[in-house]
Amino acid sequence: MTDSASKSGASSRRSDYCGQVGLAQVDTEVSLYGWVDRRRDHGGVIFIDLRDRDGIVQVVFDPDTGDNFALADKVRSEYVLHVQGVVRARSEATVNPDMATGAIEVYAKSLEILNHAETPPFQLDEFTDVGEDVRLKYRYLDLRRNDMQQKLRLRSRVSSNIRSFLDREGFLDIETPILTRATPEGARDYLVPSRTHEGKFFALPQSPQLFKQLLMVSGFDRYYQIAKCFRDEDLRADRQPEFTQIDIETTFMSEPEIMDMAEQLVTELFADVMDVKFDRFPKMPYAEAMQDYGSDKPDLRIPLKLVDVNDLMSTVEFKVFNGPANDPEGRVAALKVPGGSKLSRKEIDGYTDYVGIYGAKGLAWVKVNDRAAGLEGLQSPILKFMPDETVLALMDRLEVEDGDIVFFGADKTNIVNEALGALRCKLGEDLNLYTCEWAPLWVVDFPMFEKTDSGQWTALHHPFTAPSCSPEALEADPGTALSQAYDMVLNGTELGGGSIRIHRAEMQSAVFRLLSISEEEAQEKFGFLLDALKYGAPPHGGLAFGLDRLVMLMSGSSSIRDVIAFPKTQSAACVMTEAPGNVDNKQLRELNIKLRQVEAAKPS
Ligand code: AMO
Ligand code: AMP
Repeated sequence: MTDSASKSGASSRRSDYCGQVGLAQVDTEVSLYGWVDRRRDHGGVIFIDLRDRDGIVQVVFDPDTGDNFALADKVRSEYVLHVQGVVRARSEATVNPDMATGAIEVYAKSLEILNHAETPPFQLDEFTDVGEDVRLKYRYLDLRRNDMQQKLRLRSRVSSNIRSFLDREGFLDIETPILTRATPEGARDYLVPSRTHEGKFFALPQSPQLFKQLLMVSGFDRYYQIAKCFRDEDLRADRQPEFTQIDIETTFMSEPEIMDMAEQLVTELFADVMDVKFDRFPKMPYAEAMQDYGSDKPDLRIPLKLVDVNDLMSTVEFKVFNGPANDPEGRVAALKVPGGSKLSRKEIDGYTDYVGIYGAKGLAWVKVNDRAAGLEGLQSPILKFMPDETVLALMDRLEVEDGDIVFFGADKTNIVNEALGALRCKLGEDLNLYTCEWAPLWVVDFPMFEKTDSGQWTALHHPFTAPSCSPEALEADPGTALSQAYDMVLNGTELGGGSIRIHRAEMQSAVFRLLSISEEEAQEKFGFLLDALKYGAPPHGGLAFGLDRLVMLMSGSSSIRDVIAFPKTQSAACVMTEAPGNVDNKQLRELNIKLRQVEAAKPS
């Protein structure tokens, strides 16, 4: 028997996607293509759930259909089929309300097996609990799952929506090079050796930053690009070595104008695609975000704030607290969690380990069992180290109530911020403290620079960001200078960021000097930019959104890997193609490269 039976005279062109067949087509003939999701044999009648990117439809074969029936009997999961048949309404008893096409079925008149399939290495259902490494090795199968299909379709809708917004606003889509020089965004570069220039390397762009600025110098006025960016950095759930930015740059627009435009883009996107209405985004200075939330990307869905208690702790005997309280670079902060007194000792130990990841040496706590009972109503391992008045003043400041737990962090300010900032988010999730579904905001007034451990200044954003002051004021007091940078934050994730750029060569040189980039080095690395700034560079600025992060949030995914068709693993590899791979010696010779670990290269 061949792989086709009873070919009807009807056109073999697809008439519908499987998921679109409905009551409107009853008694008409359809021509469907797809994969076998499931095949069931019900005492002489064979049911095949046929699946394509739009959904699933039930196809029925009965023995009267002769060869078709025999062929349908051979069909297995994931076979590729072409089915022609007649749509008929299901009887009331067999209607499946959980299925989009559950009111109908297709009575098969012809069947063609277009391809066979081996048994897939995992079941392609919604609840695949197979490890991610297996899913990634067989990504093409994983992507057949409805969940993944929906995520990538959402991604396509998001980029198309953003493109049409930007097109409407007069932005031009212009491509910039992938083989280029290093573009400093703070990560390591991916390098590509040049065959034609011995010993030299291209760098893959960490972002199109400098090219988009040069396009503004060229007068394009409004640029955008959905651009691939490459950063060799430590990977996390919201970071990939290769990711996509919606990259935007404009001329003659002020900081608030650019932010308004970007806010409108995101607001329209959420309204169109998610049916979610945003109010105007609040703007929060960086200093306030760090003070109240210990983070420059606060998750405002969680109604908890860090409270400073340095003044109260500066005189207590407890060294763990009085040390940081009296250190100008230290901080003692409290985090009150309503309802937290029910946490068990084991759970508190778990949170102590958690803050340890961020460098905290411990996690002191006080449970408020009965506020009215004063000190008697409190339970804590640390209160014995503090005078009664201090404890009472502390409880007053924190306005504690029965059932609260208060956690404390005491250390260098950055450690306390990171540890309690992360704890705040973890508690928000674990105890489900969210007060709303979406909490967007702008973080503004970033410092221009921060000090590295070795005492050098580094740019908080990138070295092309304009300060809010003159070059002289900047050089006089770099530590307090603020930049004209802004980050858009959604639910504790940095969705995008940008700034007004430096458009005058003197200012750019001043920033390079502060960053200890010598004139020769600046000339060598960024001479083209410094030159361009001399030829009538207009005031300009822009921002870039992380498309992957945006879609991750919109689809409720926990990792950006779930919204990228072919992502890399945590160790920056592709388990499917086994990239990065070996190269043969011939190729290395052409590139004038000799590997130190020769066993890494296979003989040619
Ligand atoms: P920045 O470095 O803040 O700015 O990047 C902009 C946005 O890109 C996303 N993003 C990432 N997404 C996934 N994986 C990564 N490794 C990754 N790194 C960044 C984030 C981030 O907010 N040239 C500037 C933009 C500008 O100033 O216009 C830039 O690249 O969502
Ligand atoms: P110890 O004196 O080290 O036994 O600590 C007493 C309590 O203080 C314990 O609950 C510790 O978890 C907590 N603790 C220790 N160091 C810190 C710190 N740097 N910040 C906050 N709590 C701490």
